[in-house]
Amino acid sequence: MKILNIGSCNIDYVYSLNHIVTGGETEKSKRLDIFPGGKGLNQSVAAARAGAKVYHAAIVGSDGDFLLKTLKENGVDISLTEKVKDKNGHAVIQVNSEGENAIIVYPGTNHGITKEYIDKILLNFNAGDLLVLQNEVNELEYIVHKAYKQKLKVILNPSPICENLYNIKLSEIAYLIMNENEAKKLLKGNSIADCLQKAKKELPDTAIVITLGKKGAVYIDNKKQVYQNAFAVKTIDTTAAGDTFTGYFVAGLFCRKPIKEILKQASAAAAIAVSKSGASSSIPAMEEVLSLMPQMEECKNNYDIKSAEQLKVITDFINENLKQASLKQLAQKLNYSYNSAGVLVKRITGKSFTEYLQTKRLEKALFLLKETSLPVLEISNSVGYENNSFFCRKFKEKYNITPKQYRLRHKA
Ligand code: RIB
Repeated sequence: MKILNIGSCNIDYVYSLNHIVTGGETEKSKRLDIFPGGKGLNQSVAAARAGAKVYHAAIVGSDGDFLLKTLKENGVDISLTEKVKDKNGHAVIQVNSEGENAIIVYPGTNHGITKEYIDKILLNFNAGDLLVLQNEVNELEYIVHKAYKQKLKVILNPSPICENLYNIKLSEIAYLIMNENEAKKLLKGNSIADCLQKAKKELPDTAIVITLGKKGAVYIDNKKQVYQNAFAVKTIDTTAAGDTFTGYFVAGLFCRKPIKEILKQASAAAAIAVSKSGASSSIPAMEEVLSLMPQMEECKNNYDIKSAEQLKVITDFINENLKQASLKQLAQKLNYSYNSAGVLVKRITGKSFTEYLQTKRLEKALFLLKETSLPVLEISNSVGYENNSFFCRKFKEKYNITPKQYRLRHKA
């Protein structure tokens, strides 16, 4: 198995400030550091430091020699990279005294990828090889589809989230690795449990990994769900923590380690990266991770793994009882008090019981309008609405179209 990363290489200009500057403000930076960075480069360095053999493909500008040097010094194969005369991509990173950051990325040569270049480099890889991608290079849709056709296992870190990601067929991705906000945006979920449930249903062949900061990380595929606590460290700079996690995860797959072990090592490596400043410079080697891990404390503030299962129970119950589902019956099923059941539904779905019930009723109505020729009145009754005009109003509010218009449009 080989690992190819078609990934960004950035020159990171890191400004250390008391607080992150927002609109209309000016503040003097305490220092300026220039580091090699870019999500692609950081992930290749992380995977290499974790013990994997990585091929990095990128278009690097005339000012980007030190980026290639960094990759090479870390044992990454750079024979597939190309140099051009244009300006390299760079990032302007503000880091505040709590170690939080705000990043502006200028793509530069990272957006100079052509279809010819992709076709050429993919010739060096075969079915079963791993392809690592982030959303800082152009032609992502083409790369994903081509690699999928070639039976490579595509690992996508959909960061930063931008419109172009919605054109990608997520079912062509073998592993999606992202943080909480990215997961909610990409999978259109209200909560993590909701995202996991959606992923399980809509992307049965894609393994999902969601990093939850201090609440740990969760992995789900069609057979299992695995949870890992975060490790507690003093935060200096969070830049590249996610990249460290991804690189270590990829290396773990490469070394065919069990998911539990991969998550643990990736989480420890990310925590160590957070305790140092810079992007690629903060990524630890596997030896450091293994020697520090036994002394590192796991955070107590965990993600409740039960939530995903509870969401399933709630959703199944509502779907099976669309016409007359009540919070009282749900509470009995869960063995909760009426009030606790209401709080649970709100926490897990992001909606009150009634709102969630409405959502599921309207989703079912949408499905029936599309897939059957039942009259609208019959559909509204069958999903639990006694008043048809109330149903039509709610449907329009949610989908911005009336049930009749929706059916007509669908037929056309
Ligand atoms: O994930 C961190 C990276 O994001 C930085 O190195 C910066 O270059 C931006 O791409």
